[in-house]
Amino acid sequence: MKTAVFSARRYDRTMLERANAGAGHELRFFEDRLTADSASLAKGCEAVCVFVNDSVDAAALAILAAQGTRLVATRSTGYNQIDVAAAERHGIAVVRVTDYSPHSVAEFAVGLLLAVNRKIARASARTRDGNFDLEGLMGFDLHGKTVGVIGTGKIGTIFARIMAGFGCTVVGHDPYRSAAFEEAGGRYVSVDELLSCSDVVSLHCPLTDATRYIVNADALARAKRGSILVNTSRGGLVDTEAAIAALKTGQLGGLAIDVYEQEANLFFQDLSSTIICDDVIQRLVSFPNVIVTGHQAFFTVEAIGQIMQTTIDSISAFERGEELVNRVPRA
Ligand code: NAI
Repeated sequence: MKTAVFSARRYDRTMLERANAGAGHELRFFEDRLTADSASLAKGCEAVCVFVNDSVDAAALAILAAQGTRLVATRSTGYNQIDVAAAERHGIAVVRVTDYSPHSVAEFAVGLLLAVNRKIARASARTRDGNFDLEGLMGFDLHGKTVGVIGTGKIGTIFARIMAGFGCTVVGHDPYRSAAFEEAGGRYVSVDELLSCSDVVSLHCPLTDATRYIVNADALARAKRGSILVNTSRGGLVDTEAAIAALKTGQLGGLAIDVYEQEANLFFQDLSSTIICDDVIQRLVSFPNVIVTGHQAFFTVEAIGQIMQTTIDSISAFERGEELVNRVPRA
């Protein structure tokens, strides 16, 4: 099936072509993000393959539909970048990757937490500069602390299990209870209790209308003073300006993020030779107790291999008229 692959980096091309070797789809790769402006690149392609920062909104979908696209396959779990209702109106099926190494993201969240708490990135920068002073590098033991997990699905549960292994008390909040989370030692509490008792809060819920800005000024004010916030889920879960205000007062003791609400214009590109006009991200990276990575939590050999294989399998199933097991829930 002719498939336009948007936001394609070199590793996307390599890994998707590898997964496609037996399937034989005709893949056309574009580095561009999919937007209404770039949608014409997919002319003649029945399938379109996108990633997290593509803008698959109603305008883009109208153009895709008119050009003959019948399937949108996102190389991600989250699908908040796709207007699913508009896709349904145009008769375009939307598939995602529900199952790929959740360990990749959970392990990275733990890494971010350790990095910000123990100031590992700062220490590394110092020693490269011949500075072996420990001043300003003190962290705290995670052992014996309370870790709050918002969203106890696949990733949140693995994160909880790892943190329980560190000797932490793990509390969680999710509209749906997970036996696996409780087996990992987690205890369900209200959001309020989670915020007030947790030394670390880690976000593992999807971005929806209900979760947008789940961490806002009000939530930050109710959080335990000096706690660390980790976000490897979606940038829109956190009101970044409110987080900056809380960092300034010390109410928020540290922030570790792999996702950022305005990341679409920044992430997955080398902007090191340009002037970055986003003052919010520039302010964030200036804090000694903030660590920012560019949406790389999923980026392991295992996860990428599974993502690409599932994507190709979904396109093949669509071509054969089979049931789409990874279809996103209806709008
Ligand atoms: P999942 O679907 O297994 O778990 C999500 C959980 O969040 C579910 O249990 C759901 O009930 C819960 N949830 C929904 N609304 C909630 C609310 N208002 N409050 C608390 N919990 C709520 O998804 P999975 O695989 O664990 O992924 C979680 C998120 O991680 C994804 O939605 C995605 O945004 C993010 N992600 C980030 C990646 C990265 O590279 N940074 C890679 C993969 C996923």
